[in-house]
Amino acid sequence: MGNSAIERLLTRRSVLARNMTEPGPDPEQTAQILTAAARVPDHGKIAPWRFILLRNDGRQKLGAVLRDAYRDIEAEASEAKLDLESGKFTRAPLVIVVVSSPLSSHKVPVWEQQLSCGAVCQNILHAADALGFAGQWITEWCAYHPKVRDALGITAEEQIAGFIYIGTAIEPPKERPRPELQDIVTDWQGVTDWQGPLS
Ligand SMILES: Cc1cc2nc3c(=O)[nH]c(=O)nc-3n(C[C@H](O)[C@H](O)[C@H](O)COP(=O)(O)O)c2cc1C
Repeated sequence: MGNSAIERLLTRRSVLARNMTEPGPDPEQTAQILTAAARVPDHGKIAPWRFILLRNDGRQKLGAVLRDAYRDIEAEASEAKLDLESGKFTRAPLVIVVVSSPLSSHKVPVWEQQLSCGAVCQNILHAADALGFAGQWITEWCAYHPKVRDALGITAEEQIAGFIYIGTAIEPPKERPRPELQDIVTDWQGVTDWQGPLS
């Protein structure tokens, strides 16, 4: 596989955040990734999403919030477990928090605004991949914990669509099983035994 757009689309894989290291994108590359992120289909042109960057010391500082929040989940958590949970954001040099900020009063349904946010997340993965970086879209418990949401300034109307970890892969990821097209594609005319390329 080479580097054409279709080849990248057909081969991109997520890399586990714990398998990432430095370097991450530099400021110019980060801006490119975010520009690609914001260039998604967006019914009504309302940009119902926003980004929070976690990098450098900010990742450790937020770790104190994670430590406190994780105690709510597991009161008896060991120090080792708390260290693991509070260090989450340091697994990669850059974490982009993608926030879904739909306008509930807008004529465009909230569902469509949320779909646009999903496209944002995928564009980030593809942009990172195109620049030679590894990426992973993760929510984990922290996307839903009120203390983490508060620390990040997420409002009641907003959702964390994902923490997108970006860095350099320690090792190339192995492929994982993918759905067979015959299991997910049906022909409008009712052909369900489709076995090969559309003709
Ligand atoms: C909204 C969303 C949330 C996810 N959250 C997690 C998560 O919390 N933990 C995890 O291991 N994978 C999570 N994943 C899955 C990974 O991002 C990814 O799909 C998986 O590693 C395989 O990715 P690939 O098909 O791009 O190679 C999530 C995926 C999505 C779309």
